[in-house]
Amino acid sequence: MTEPEIEATRPTSGDSKPPVGPDIDYYTERWAKGEYVDGGVSGVVELLPNGYIVKSPWNGWWEEEECREDMAREARVYQRLLEYFGAHERFVRIVSHDETDYSITMEYMVNGTLRAYVEVHNDHISQDQRHQWILAMAEGMEMLHAASVVHCDFSPRNMLLDGDLELKVTDFGCVSMDGSDSSAGGSVRFYPPRALSRERFDVDDDVFALGSSIYEVSTGKPPYADLQTVPTRNLYSLQQVSDLVGLDMSDIIRDCWLLRAQSAREIHQRILAVVRARS
Ligand SMILES: Nc1ncnc2c1ncn2[C@@H]1O[C@H](COP(=O)(O)OP(=O)(O)OP(=O)(O)O)[C@@H](O)[C@H]1O
Ligand SMILES: [Mg+2]
Repeated sequence: MTEPEIEATRPTSGDSKPPVGPDIDYYTERWAKGEYVDGGVSGVVELLPNGYIVKSPWNGWWEEEECREDMAREARVYQRLLEYFGAHERFVRIVSHDETDYSITMEYMVNGTLRAYVEVHNDHISQDQRHQWILAMAEGMEMLHAASVVHCDFSPRNMLLDGDLELKVTDFGCVSMDGSDSSAGGSVRFYPPRALSRERFDVDDDVFALGSSIYEVSTGKPPYADLQTVPTRNLYSLQQVSDLVGLDMSDIIRDCWLLRAQSAREIHQRILAVVRARS
């Protein structure tokens, strides 16, 4: 039986997020700003009547201070990306950031997360589309690292698709900026065991997660989807990588997992070469 993926949690936390759903206002002592879309470790995401999305930190929750810090960190990352690259298609366009309640208003990504999209449409996704997404995720990571941002929770769950299925790398709440500690950890199937046992993440921990993300987009499932998380972690510790025989870009995935790649930039260039050779 497939076990649900362990999601990002703060190292100190028990429950990673408040109960969500129709009773959200009761649990979080807040009034809805719009239609509830989703809720995560750092905040609640709602669709506003004007068509934009607003992400706000959890309120009235025992980790509300950490949630506000996550949101402030996320806003700083968007600000830095804007300074480095201007408005770029690899990231969601931010409409505003409210410094009073720490919320971020942004464009609505109508096709949702890459994970959910691939899960539902896997049998009908072309090789060309998969290549475009793999290229885009590598490009996004290369850009983040160039801006001294390590994502720390990189996976298709944190990539969103717009109306044209253009991929955006998102969710910068627990990043490491300029070498700072991460406020939460990535998930077992995406990060090497060494990263999950300490708070500091290096760029090559992210590159490992890039390998897992390429795997998921290529196969439609996260690595070791049929294994529980403990055996998965043990296999990664032994550097026993999932069966990659016959898989597109298997050598690239393997090099990410064995921490042999020098950088996200190197992986991006290698993916580009594969895609060009096959088109
Ligand atoms: N701009 C957007 N357009 C559409 N949906 C969005 C948008 N931003 C966030 N979401 C939805 O809200 C979810 C949670 O957002 P996000 O990952 O940024 O927050 P989080 O609190 O860090 O969540 P998690 O801990 O689950 O990763 C996303 O997985 C997605 O389903
Ligand atoms: Mg997320």
